Amino acid sequence: MRRPVPELSDALNAITPDSPPRARSFRIAPGGTLRGEVRVPGDKSISHRAIMLGALADGETVVTGFLEGADSLATLAAFRAMGVEIEGPDAGRVRIRGVGLHGLTAPAAPLDVGNAGTAMRLLCGLLAGQRFASTLVGDASLSRRPMRRVTEPLAQMGASIETTAAGTAPLLIRPVPRLTPIDYAMPVASAQVKSCLLLAGLYADGTSCITEPAVTRDHTERMLATFGCPVQRDGRKVCIRGGSRLTAPPDGVPVAVPADISSAAFFLVGASIAEDADLLLPAVGLNPTRIGVLNILEAMGARLTITNHHDSGAEPVADIRVQSAGLKGIEIPAVQVPLAIDEFPALFIAAACAEGETLLTGAEELRVKESDRIAVMAAGLGALGVETEVLPDGIRIQGRGGRSLGGGSIDSHGDHRIAMAFAMAALRAEAPLLVQDCENVNTSFPGFARLAAGAGLGIEEHVA
Ligand code: S3P
Repeated sequence: MRRPVPELSDALNAITPDSPPRARSFRIAPGGTLRGEVRVPGDKSISHRAIMLGALADGETVVTGFLEGADSLATLAAFRAMGVEIEGPDAGRVRIRGVGLHGLTAPAAPLDVGNAGTAMRLLCGLLAGQRFASTLVGDASLSRRPMRRVTEPLAQMGASIETTAAGTAPLLIRPVPRLTPIDYAMPVASAQVKSCLLLAGLYADGTSCITEPAVTRDHTERMLATFGCPVQRDGRKVCIRGGSRLTAPPDGVPVAVPADISSAAFFLVGASIAEDADLLLPAVGLNPTRIGVLNILEAMGARLTITNHHDSGAEPVADIRVQSAGLKGIEIPAVQVPLAIDEFPALFIAAACAEGETLLTGAEELRVKESDRIAVMAAGLGALGVETEVLPDGIRIQGRGGRSLGGGSIDSHGDHRIAMAFAMAALRAEAPLLVQDCENVNTSFPGFARLAAGAGLGIEEHVA
């Protein structure tokens, strides 16, 4: 039976303004150091993709190291709502009974992906190819983020997707008789757009090709190969054949999610700027499309020792040891920008503690992340006495070198990465820091405060 198409107004009503409570804050004592071993949780990007491809595969997929954060749990819940049986997560282990490319069923209500941009953009492509209507909604932050970057190319494929007049969510996706393949040159370097179109391409009549303006994370391509559906790559062009079936990895071969380098980044910066720090981060994902943070920190003079290189499924991993270092400001090379796109809040803290000036340009994408990361970071750095110049596509930061940062109150604007970056800034502050609106730290790094405290950060979490 065909369900009625949900109306956009219903979807709008389903959004609770600023859904998560905004009362969680971090109070961090100034100074201190980071020592010992910290195991950061699983990679968020890879966790989303493991659920999506596992659900669309023929057979049963076991995922290990799954990130039990609100974002990837929202993806998991969305597939349950479309009839996929999923056991777990239990200590990072998830078992997905795949339903095959055409086995999803219509969800009874709008799919609420909370704060998760990756879930919304990738699901949008996948849902465009289904035989049922669906609506994607998110929290207040996600409902402000641009969605035309996915809905426009999907419309070129023949998809029917309604957005608000501003081109934002809710996204109302209606079934169409067929999707036509696309040959698309992406105007922005975005792994979410590329992945969205690869997933839609699975449902198109023919081969779709997507060309990226700069290399972006390739987890979708790697994981598609794990599921027996290789994409063809020619330089910056990737192609996928419509109708290619996905097959769950053989029994006993889990999809292993490595530790998230984006979560490790806070500790890499924290240990670099603290005095007398020596920290080991085991088995961190070191996919070459994600290691901009290591390249940039090394160029700034960080002391990183990388050992025990090995593969974890389709992804390379290694242990990273980081020790205190006198950092220096640099001009961040343009090629590193997409490779470090989520790590700039942490890197700005490193720049604030470095000797000399750091200049970032070509990073306008930072303005449309979970918050406007250029404006929000500049405001927070200003509160700590750091001089910055905000540029349309970046920022200039005057490092304080040997001088401490100030203390005081920082508003993270509900942006998980900004909250964690400023928590680390306390290691070089002369007075306590209060970081506000930290609820969304749970989207990518549940247990952050506990882990950081275990390594020596004087952090306490308060829930009002
Ligand atoms: C992601 C891609 C990046 C990144 C985001 C996760 C992904 O976004 O910022 O946190 O999992 O594909 P863009 O594609 O918008 O650059």
